[in-house]
Amino acid sequence: MLSDRPVRRFPGATPNQGHPRGKVFHYNGFALPMSKSDMQRHGGARTLHRCAGPEANSGKISRSCAFDDVSTAFFPASRNHPRPKARPPLTVEFLQSAIGAEMSEVDRVLRASLASDVVLIRRVAEYIIGAGGKRLRPALLLLAARACGYHGRDHYTLAAVIEMIHTATLLHDDVVDESSLRRGHATANAEFGNAASVLVGDFLYSRAFQMMVGVNRMRVLSILADATNVIAEGEVLQLLYAGDAQTDEARYFDVIHRKTAKLFEAAARLGSVLGDADADCEDALAQFGMHLGTAFQLMDDVLDYSGASADIGKNLGDDLAEGKMTLPLIRALATGTSDDVALLRHAIGDGGLEDFAPVLEVLARTGALGYARDRAVAEGRAAAACLSGLPPSEAGRTLLQLSTFAADRTY
Ligand code: IPE
Ligand code: IPE
Ligand code: MG
Ligand code: MG
Repeated sequence: MLSDRPVRRFPGATPNQGHPRGKVFHYNGFALPMSKSDMQRHGGARTLHRCAGPEANSGKISRSCAFDDVSTAFFPASRNHPRPKARPPLTVEFLQSAIGAEMSEVDRVLRASLASDVVLIRRVAEYIIGAGGKRLRPALLLLAARACGYHGRDHYTLAAVIEMIHTATLLHDDVVDESSLRRGHATANAEFGNAASVLVGDFLYSRAFQMMVGVNRMRVLSILADATNVIAEGEVLQLLYAGDAQTDEARYFDVIHRKTAKLFEAAARLGSVLGDADADCEDALAQFGMHLGTAFQLMDDVLDYSGASADIGKNLGDDLAEGKMTLPLIRALATGTSDDVALLRHAIGDGGLEDFAPVLEVLARTGALGYARDRAVAEGRAAAACLSGLPPSEAGRTLLQLSTFAADRTY
């Protein structure tokens, strides 16, 4: 069954684009599609749909997003692993009410920072930044700064810097992963080509460094220089392990700590540095960011198999197509029958998405998806525990909700 609905139901849309169903709310200066609960009320988040991306106009279903229905069938709710709640405790709407005004300022800085007389840079950068996204990392920085009593304006600059670094990694990552859908739109590489994506990613990185120099604090420079270096190591390590069925949990956690959690850690640490927090408080917030980012990537890896493409704004199956050794696969290889292991090894080596449905069946039956989800919940709890020593504040309470969201999210 094919629906002609566009896939733009992900919480991110270009300004003034509106939503096919007409309901729009505002976050970070962007017009966003209707809320999650609205989407669920109107149903169909898991129905098959035509994909954005190169195949969008061809009438074909993309190789990956055609699996939405399959994932629902093979990932039934159970006592131990209930389906995520219909409405996660933290949503972009919630963040809007908590820090919407400050995020608008971050967005203003972000857009102003894309200035360049090279037209293609503006086009590509505005294409991906204008597509929205959850803006979790800048929100984390703002909240950490607030929790530490910061009252200046540098947190706007640094929050924009963090989002630009994140965006640069996405531009590069989508080239490496050969992804065709991001934030509910064709990826920049699908739209403008690999070369433009890589080069504009480099522009965003270097512009971010120009901006952080403006903050004029060596400590800030040092945190961000270290973080970007570690992220690059993580992506290269992941490349090395791709297709290697021997990859174990230790390697997996090493990769996700570096490629994802490090930037969350840097965001939280920077907020505390701006607020002149003492060493204990800074370390607690940095640890919070590390656990939060780990939970976040664990769920990303679960959702790559069991999410709904319309919700996550990405195609399912990208990880399998790349032979990416994420925790669901690692766990199923360790606990499956010999037939399961043979099937998984073949799919990992082959990268063939014709194996997606049988692989998903193995991941669900062996409890590997539930296992990865449980690890995300544990990381979310570890993050929450890091906040216990902080003085009570509204920002601290929002951070706590962020830790629940990271492990409970469906998008
Ligand atoms: C995607 O991050 C890359 C990962 C580290 C999993 P997000 O899921 O935060 O992407 P956006 O910014 O909301 O699009
Ligand atoms: C996150 O990993 C990549 C970065 C940290 C840049 P993924 O490859 O899983 O991210 P998505 O799923 O493409 O967003
Ligand atoms: Mg990717
Ligand atoms: Mg992913």
